[in-house]
Amino acid sequence: MASARSLTRALRSVPTASTFKTATPRQVDIPCRNANHAFRRGYASQRHQSLNSKGAILSGVAAVAVLGTGYYVYGLKPMQLETPIPESFKAPSTSGQKNPTIFTPTTQDYQKVYDAIAKKLIDEDDYDDGSYGPVLVRLGWHSSGTYDKLTKTGGSNGATMRFAPEGDHGANAGLKAARDFLEPVKEQFPWITHSDLWTLGATCAIQEMGGPDIAWRPGRSDRDVAYCTPDGRLPDASKGSDHLRGIFYRMGFNDQEIVALSGAHALGRCHTDRSGFEGPWTFSPITMTNDYFKLLLDEEWDYRNWNGPRQFQDNKTKTLMMLPTDVVLIKDEGFRPHVDRYAKDQEEFFKEFSEVIMTLFELGVPFESGKEARNVFRRTE
Ligand code: HEM
Repeated sequence: MASARSLTRALRSVPTASTFKTATPRQVDIPCRNANHAFRRGYASQRHQSLNSKGAILSGVAAVAVLGTGYYVYGLKPMQLETPIPESFKAPSTSGQKNPTIFTPTTQDYQKVYDAIAKKLIDEDDYDDGSYGPVLVRLGWHSSGTYDKLTKTGGSNGATMRFAPEGDHGANAGLKAARDFLEPVKEQFPWITHSDLWTLGATCAIQEMGGPDIAWRPGRSDRDVAYCTPDGRLPDASKGSDHLRGIFYRMGFNDQEIVALSGAHALGRCHTDRSGFEGPWTFSPITMTNDYFKLLLDEEWDYRNWNGPRQFQDNKTKTLMMLPTDVVLIKDEGFRPHVDRYAKDQEEFFKEFSEVIMTLFELGVPFESGKEARNVFRRTE
């Protein structure tokens, strides 16, 4: 209990360099070839792109799924029952009729799921910098950031990263840790869909790491392997502003929203065995702050001299990192004014981050409920 309390305090405390674990790589005992492979592909796996282009792999896999012999990362049943929209999130019914045979979760039931995730975050503090929080945020983002507004495919509906084609995309390397973390919660509350659980997990992690309130509503349904998105929909960290705009405009975001979303890099770190990059962005990687923007502006960022992908390191301590796509935000005149604003005012950043991440987590979801169904969950004491 004492350790749980002290982690809660650590999560909420004002970040200091002393609470920060140094940039010691965690699981770097991997063959060099793999690190280089990750480096070459940046954030989107060319290996899988070429696999996909070898012809109709998705439709082939879809056919397998239809035959009921699909390959499942989690050994799931072929069809998940859709979770009904809870009454408390719906407009009042005119008939007053309820189906007594279906369990209808209420806002309180989702609060219980939130509480279970928050408790696990506190209890399991021996991961990475002391929390699974950052990797949960990355899971929520990667499950949503595949959205394409033109074809209306991808997005947080579906949780298709459970399946091999999408789970194996280079961009998703390491996210099994987050999916596995949430699996016992899914077992405890079997009525929640994976896709609702992943976005709720990210929402919970942000709030519990001292971030802003994030409104959330249920309504995502899990889909089968045929709905996996093609590789290459998530950003490649080695690229420039045109690429960033291409990726985020495709989801429907603008320059201000790209900068606000990038502020999530206040949290977590890069891992050589996942992306090929290494190190944290801030001195407090398990506390949400606007430090990412402050550090971008205040520190001098030099190329790191190492046998790895091109990344930046701070000149003063040489313990922090920035990706090429992070540094683009201070070089590009469309992005820069927002970095300046967010560095000056954490409240302004939190307000705009909260709006845009809520939108991100709702991409591609055919909600039956209206916007009034959004709810902010109570944080742990
Ligand atoms: C702007 C384009 C983006 C690029 C190129 C990018 C790239 C990356 C890379 C390369 C990593 C390291 C993965 C690893 O090695 O473990 C990472 C981690 C992370 N990203 Fe991003 N990212 C972007 C946007 C975002 C957004 C929009 C969010 C959330 C709203 C986000 C949240 C995170 C978090 C929390 C981590 C840390 C994960 C951990 O500690 O395990 N990123 N990102």
